[in-house]
Amino acid sequence: MSYTFPVTRNPNPKPKPDPNELVFGKQFTDHMFVMDYDEGQGWHDGRIIPYGDILISPASSVLHYAQMMFEGMKAYKSASGDVLLFRPEMNARRLNRTNERICMPQMDEELFVSAVKATVHEDKDWVPDAPFTSLYIRPFIIADDPALGVKSAHHFRFMIILCPSGPYYAANRGKLSTTRIFVEDEYIRAAHGGTGYAKVGGNYAGSLRASQKAYACDCNDVLWLDAHEHKYIEEVGSSNAFFVIGDEVITAPLAGTILPGITRDSVLTLLREWGVPATERKLSIDEVVAAAKEGALKEAFASGTAAVISPMGTLRYLGEEYVINNREVGALSQKIYDTITGIQTGKLPDTRGWTQRVD
Ligand code: COI
Repeated sequence: MSYTFPVTRNPNPKPKPDPNELVFGKQFTDHMFVMDYDEGQGWHDGRIIPYGDILISPASSVLHYAQMMFEGMKAYKSASGDVLLFRPEMNARRLNRTNERICMPQMDEELFVSAVKATVHEDKDWVPDAPFTSLYIRPFIIADDPALGVKSAHHFRFMIILCPSGPYYAANRGKLSTTRIFVEDEYIRAAHGGTGYAKVGGNYAGSLRASQKAYACDCNDVLWLDAHEHKYIEEVGSSNAFFVIGDEVITAPLAGTILPGITRDSVLTLLREWGVPATERKLSIDEVVAAAKEGALKEAFASGTAAVISPMGTLRYLGEEYVINNREVGALSQKIYDTITGIQTGKLPDTRGWTQRVD
């Protein structure tokens, strides 16, 4: 089924920002996508309208009980001027897995991808082409019943907003650099049976206190440990975490508490194609510290849509600092970064059908 959406053009388009000054997620384009869901009607009235504030009841369920979800994806400008999306069908699938967890309605994958493409098409001129920049796409759904009872809503709103963005970590401005990461031993991100695998706002609200602790130690982000034993590595900030110990590349298994990252999946696919041993297994912080002390911890990096590949240079755990690869970007991290961004921007051939053009 193909979908089209009516467009109301913005009569007051904004000047485009300087691509060399872009930060992450602070400037927004001229248009946004809005679609409603009502019981009995399903998703209806998808439309593109000028970007702007929305009216919401102060009793709206999302404001009280956080029944909401979001996705994150990017559009890239190729050298020939094409605008490319990266594996958008994976975002659609993840959206539906999240929605199932928090009692929100399913959405036809094609409807989702068509809405993203139509919105990006409208603001194609906003896709930056400077190195380390892209158009960050934020689809999200809010529950919107004006009622204070704790139960799933009957009316939902799906929206897509777009922001021309620079690197997620300021350290990566102009070149790939390493980050300082704070290993959190007190607060947790997700527990088994919870919402760790789902992309819901509450997961992020619960993470802010730990981020403050990390910033106070001059760290860029938090490395989360498991909720049960505070022992096993889960994620880093809002991204998945990879560690290279000896010849093995290790990331946490998708066992309910880990976000199934699309970049994570792409990294694992590439490593396996390259014949690099890549394992999804439990990895304790003690094993990482021991490897760091023995010199076996070769590299570590975060992988995510926003973060792309962000190598870690320092781990701070229980007041001690462990330096990784002399705080330099490792060869494997750089190769993965170059390959993924090469495919995303059309510089490298897309032999896996990962990119989709926005016409
Ligand atoms: C993404 O990588 O798209 C994310 O969702 C991270 C975001 C919370 C900044």
